[in-house]
Amino acid sequence: MAEPRVVRTLPALQRALARWRAAHQTVALVPTMGALHSGHLSLVQLARRHARRVIVSIFVNPAQFAPSEDLASYPRNLDADIGALAGSGAELAWVPATETMYPAGFATRIVPEGPASVGLEDKFRPHFFAGVATVVAKLFLQCRPDVAIFGEKDFQQLKVVTALARDLDLGVKIVGAPIVRERDGLAMSSRNAYLSAQERAVAPTLASVLADCAGRIAHGAEVADAIEHGRAAIARAGFVLDYLEARNADTLLPLASLKDGPIRLLVAARLGRTRLIDNVAV
Ligand code: PAJ
Repeated sequence: MAEPRVVRTLPALQRALARWRAAHQTVALVPTMGALHSGHLSLVQLARRHARRVIVSIFVNPAQFAPSEDLASYPRNLDADIGALAGSGAELAWVPATETMYPAGFATRIVPEGPASVGLEDKFRPHFFAGVATVVAKLFLQCRPDVAIFGEKDFQQLKVVTALARDLDLGVKIVGAPIVRERDGLAMSSRNAYLSAQERAVAPTLASVLADCAGRIAHGAEVADAIEHGRAAIARAGFVLDYLEARNADTLLPLASLKDGPIRLLVAARLGRTRLIDNVAV
């Protein structure tokens, strides 16, 4: 099965893009940090349906990690990633070096507001969305895609990137993709590899609590009661909870009842040293 061509420099990327553009071929971009799993591959499949050519970027972005976070240990295996992309329909893997993305003297940062400042991930990872917005804007300007695919797994990120593309007129359509889960419900994530066997057995609790909470609200329970119940269940399972919140699925602002708009439940919790996030629609 055909593997994507690995491109590491901007001039080589621009040559490939120029050929496609000359042939009037549309381009979809799937930004990733590698350690590819079936969740990422579902994004590539969706990208194929939206454009003639698919680029997968693989770049572990230092700007979105705090010094205390897992930049050094984040799983990196380019050969495995390129192998995983064989036959996926992606023809180009954009794999810039850190110095290509952030050359000496790099001095510009995009600091998003709106959905990036609603008190969810931003509250616990204050550096995160500026790092994401800056690298995603660069990826869009480097690759000039017609469409870019982002997973609902990172629901707040999807909203932030949608606002970024719109607010800066980046000319790219953002498409969200549903969360891909393991058979036991755990949302797939590159960070699941950090879990011990014991933690891995507990991890699906996060998804089952979300589903239970969503069911309670859909069947008429008060939002605040359902959330309180869910928080207790997550703590009982052995997680340290960062947040479990019911938010407006469009604006991510707090809401009190189904009458206030479509509800998305979002959770982040730590199991040992691994931080997991998940979310579900009510
Ligand atoms: P990464 O965590 O590698 O995720 C890349 C993309 O895959 C994101 O859009 C994410 O939401 C999606 N994804 C991850 N797990 C998924 C799952 N189980 N189901 C569906 N989609 C899933 O998110 C990032 O990288 C970075 O922040 C990035 C956008 C690349 C900027 O550096």
